[in-house]
Amino acid sequence: MNIEHLKKIAAEKATEEVRNGMVVGLGTGSTVYYALLKLGKMVRDGLNIVGIPTSDGTEKIAKEQDIPLSTLAVHSTIELTIDGADEVDVHLNLIKGGGAALVREKIIANASKRILIVVDESKISRVLGTSFALPVEIVRFGWEATQREVDKICGRSDVRGGIENPLITDNGNYILDCHFDGISEPEKVELQLNNIPGVVENGIFVDRADKVIIGTSSGIKYME
Ligand code: 5RP
Repeated sequence: MNIEHLKKIAAEKATEEVRNGMVVGLGTGSTVYYALLKLGKMVRDGLNIVGIPTSDGTEKIAKEQDIPLSTLAVHSTIELTIDGADEVDVHLNLIKGGGAALVREKIIANASKRILIVVDESKISRVLGTSFALPVEIVRFGWEATQREVDKICGRSDVRGGIENPLITDNGNYILDCHFDGISEPEKVELQLNNIPGVVENGIFVDRADKVIIGTSSGIKYME
């Protein structure tokens, strides 16, 4: 089945949990995109929400969709966040950051009471780090030294985009894509990486998702 259709059914299903008056965390990526379109339609039909976006890209789409926006300065708590993921294990641990928004996504996740993750079935994995390289956001100063330390943990990493034309995140940093041979202890690796000077954040999300909504060729499935 068409993968875009699987993304769309998962994302639209998540919007059914959005209620009037909610502060909603707006994730980033091609799956969440369909939730933003649907939320825009719901707002135009009278739904009263404010969204807090996880990236400049999502902010732009939300504005185009007439979704009122706010910030964490105004709202300390987010009732519900809808976000995507690059890899999901059976314990609902995630790899995120394929869209380079992992820092803001983790800040938003940390402020959220409830998190719905929307994916197509290709994202489900027995062990994290076997089908997707882990994104790690690092500051540009001294990036070579930071990469050497990161590589001691993962083995090998690449600067996203290549150092001749590196991707620069919304926060002005580089992304290292780290090639693990499976991450059997995600909680430990998350902390180890964040303990390296120069690492801003990494894309391991442990124990954050409340429900994963999966678009499959046989309909919607859930993990919670
Ligand atoms: C962005 C993310 C995205 O949620 C993740 O990459 C999934 O994106 P997509 O739905 O396009 O596959 O973590 O930083």
